[in-house]
Amino acid sequence: MFKRACLSHEGMEEIKIAATDQVPEGMGIIVEVGGKSLALFNVHGEYYAIDNTCPHRGGSLGDGFLEGERVTCPIHGWQFDVTSGKGVAPPGAAIKSYKVDVRGEDIFVEME
Ligand code: FES
Repeated sequence: MFKRACLSHEGMEEIKIAATDQVPEGMGIIVEVGGKSLALFNVHGEYYAIDNTCPHRGGSLGDGFLEGERVTCPIHGWQFDVTSGKGVAPPGAAIKSYKVDVRGEDIFVEME
């Protein structure tokens, strides 16, 4: 795992979590990093990371169904916008999202 201090946000660090070829377009993968489980998605060549654990009852969002920017939890169907972590259904739900940076073939997330 590659880490470096993030100069733009004090107290944050960037951690390499995957290579671009590990995340097929229109799919998500699950990445364990820094004691957390993240779901990393490829939406038309743009990468987005959110917490993997559904806030409803713990479903794995990285195993969910991705349609455009929306992922559907495989357990009971809650939906989230992977670009922001905002709940789509129900709209009051939310999940933490992480800033993603792609450099070359490496995907980094910014974490505390
Ligand atoms: S655990 Fe995700 S919708 Fe219930």
